[in-house]
Amino acid sequence: MPATPTSPAQARQNMVDTLLQLQKEWQMPEISERVAAVLRTVPRHVFVPEVSLEQAYATDYAPPIRRAEDGLVTSSMSAVRVQAMMLDQAGLEPGMRVLEIGSGGYNAALIAELVGSAGEVTTIDIDAEVTGRARRYLDEAGYQDVRVVTGDAEYGVAEFAPYDRVIVTVRAWDLPPAWVAQLTETGRVVTPMRLRGVNRTVGLDRVGSHLVSRPDHHLTVFVPMQGAGAHEERGIAVQGEEIVLYGAEEPVDVDALRTALHGPRKEFWPGIEFTRPDRLHLWIAGHADRYAMLHVAEDVLEHGPAGPLARQPVPVVLADQGSVAVRAKRALGEDRFEIGVFAYGPHGERAAQDYIDVLRAWDQHEGSMARIEVWPSGTPEADLPTDRVRVLDKPHTRTVLAWP
Ligand SMILES: C[S@@+](CC[C@H](N)C(=O)[O-])C[C@H]1O[C@@H](n2cnc3c(N)ncnc32)[C@H](O)[C@@H]1O
Repeated sequence: MPATPTSPAQARQNMVDTLLQLQKEWQMPEISERVAAVLRTVPRHVFVPEVSLEQAYATDYAPPIRRAEDGLVTSSMSAVRVQAMMLDQAGLEPGMRVLEIGSGGYNAALIAELVGSAGEVTTIDIDAEVTGRARRYLDEAGYQDVRVVTGDAEYGVAEFAPYDRVIVTVRAWDLPPAWVAQLTETGRVVTPMRLRGVNRTVGLDRVGSHLVSRPDHHLTVFVPMQGAGAHEERGIAVQGEEIVLYGAEEPVDVDALRTALHGPRKEFWPGIEFTRPDRLHLWIAGHADRYAMLHVAEDVLEHGPAGPLARQPVPVVLADQGSVAVRAKRALGEDRFEIGVFAYGPHGERAAQDYIDVLRAWDQHEGSMARIEVWPSGTPEADLPTDRVRVLDKPHTRTVLAWP
């Protein structure tokens, strides 16, 4: 561990050294030299004066900036690990014009360094307090050329379009048409996406009227979008807050599901190792038909899937009469796990079989990365890629998942 920093400059160098070390240890996406260099330059602490130097330069801490009345964080400075990853996904070059959605000031300053004096950076935030402070700290740090706009990013910022890159630093549910319309012909959007409950941050290149993902996408968590694009994902309370079902695309018999979950379970262990969990999750979300996500608090069920590994909602497959198959895992040895399926209810075994088919196909496919395409809503089925595995329809877009 690097020594406690004595100066901002030293803290900054320590932060980048730690990031580069972690990236190797955890096999995280590579941080390019150009991005590492700007991280060593921009004074991150200037943009979050309310936290300590150590917190400002921690690699995985997102200092909260604004909270709603109920205490929920509505704005934070993103963790530098995530910012570095997204800047590399964006592939910024000198002279590019960039729109950043969600302003903290710091990330805009990093972008400004990467696109240089020939480039242009515009950042927009819906919250005037956030843009006020971003403006103030950008000026203080010497980035007077970065444009800061207050407004709803649903409509982009047409005045300074077209953009070579649109970088979205807030959790988007859908991609508004303005983001694509305001891109250059060969532009790219880097954005967090919600794909049947799975979070992926994706670099999407423009190809005519649609967008196609680049090979690398990653798991990230962001504060939710406000304004016209806000979307609340409400779960179905199966048992208060202890058992909640998310994202079910069919009517669910809640009483039958609760009864099934409190009943006995059948276990299936098809001999598949649990690796690359976020890719696996997207595979399940893409391939399982009667898919949903289930949260079960620890120790609520006698035969539950819960335990220390089930704190997050897990992907499940539904069947009739409240039956369900739940993904489980158990240790195989140090740091190795295998995937299992627990079946509940009268048709649980049917659901488990469907689930196991999806898992076996994953195993045979060697866990490859999904291709994600975003098409405008209303695109006829016949115009979508023929290798599509699933199409997710949202108000503005049809998102296609395929596995090359
Ligand atoms: C994670 S913060 C941005 C962090 C920033 N990019 C940085 O430098 O670290 C997300 C921001 O998105 C803003 N936001 C939420 N919905 C928005 C919308 N519809 N339009 C513009 N900004 C929005 C929030 O106010 C919040 O400040």
